[in-house]
Amino acid sequence: MAEHIIGIDIGFGFTKATNGHDFLIFKSIFGEAVQFQIKENLLHSNTDDDHLQIEVDNTSYFVGELAERQSSDRTFTLDQTQFVSSSSKILALATLSKLVKDTSQPIKLVVGLPIGHYREYKDELAKMLKTTHHFYVINADGERTKTSIQVSDVRVLPQPIGTVMDSLLSSTGIAQNKRFATDKIGIIDVGFRTTDYTISDKGRYSERGSLTTKNGISRAFAQIGSKLKDACGIDIEIYRLYDAVDKGTIKVRGKSYDLKKITEHAFKQLASQIAADANQVWEDDWDIDAIMITGGGGAVLLPYMEAEIEGAIIPIKQDLDYRLHNVRGYYKFGLYTWANPKKK
Ligand SMILES: Nc1ncnc2c1ncn2[C@@H]1O[C@H](COP(=O)(O)OP(=O)(O)OP(=O)(O)O)[C@@H](O)[C@H]1O
Ligand SMILES: [Mg+2]
Repeated sequence: MAEHIIGIDIGFGFTKATNGHDFLIFKSIFGEAVQFQIKENLLHSNTDDDHLQIEVDNTSYFVGELAERQSSDRTFTLDQTQFVSSSSKILALATLSKLVKDTSQPIKLVVGLPIGHYREYKDELAKMLKTTHHFYVINADGERTKTSIQVSDVRVLPQPIGTVMDSLLSSTGIAQNKRFATDKIGIIDVGFRTTDYTISDKGRYSERGSLTTKNGISRAFAQIGSKLKDACGIDIEIYRLYDAVDKGTIKVRGKSYDLKKITEHAFKQLASQIAADANQVWEDDWDIDAIMITGGGGAVLLPYMEAEIEGAIIPIKQDLDYRLHNVRGYYKFGLYTWANPKKK
């Protein structure tokens, strides 16, 4: 019997998920749904593609980009204390509404928690998710569908470990790469708000050598935003800077501003800080065999970090958006745990 496994990585920037076939990625934002004033799209019929709306406990929520566009009281998942209790449930249910194709089957979940939340919240999160969830899914035309999804098992992992699992396990969840099972590997996961450091020692998570800092990529974006504000007088949400930074230029009120120089400077500074923290937290772990750099911010900062890190960097496979390596690893870990009972 095929197992119904879903991996979910709820980051402060993006929620990432996979059911083994499809990947889902949306901004970790939700807000109370409002009635549409005008229909969104004048030229095309509404599609359900980016419409993410659920009703939980009598409250209707827009989730992801839809919340950013339509809700007046956006909730960002940045509040550390609410992260597990309320935010993660809504983001997880929104994920299930898209990725569960057959609601008659029980689902098994593998979910990642930030290093700094792992020990304290792993049991609470598992307990909250392991139940039958009753909620409504609302499509772009406003039609409500009653949904019940039974989550029969939950495993919680420290977020960056997903990237190790992704390299260690095959697509069917079997250990394929000896090195990850025998070596001591340091992982640096650069996200939107935070950077997580951890060690996988012979495939096992070690709390020693783990650290969370606030040096996410948003720190560099904030610096770029503030320089931009000096130049054009407008506060631009850091969320909106990604494309502009990628292109190296932004148009504000019809005028173009070059971002290359300030970006280069901000990224270099952030990369140095992240590398310095790595060198410090792993000061006594001179026996680390190699270091992996992951997370969406890891992809952006990799070229700046290579020179500053003490140790050998193992490149991760370039076959996937860097933001998705953790979650693909969670899915494989789910297969390893539930679908291959005999292992090898
Ligand atoms: N296509 C893309 N769109 C937006 N951001 C991208 C894209 N590709 C890479 N990024 C980078 O990825 C970063 C987010 O990475 P990631 O999804 O790993 O963070 P997160 O896990 O949500 O954050 P945290 O680890 O702090 O909780 C963005 O800040 C941006 O720099
Ligand atoms: Mg992350």
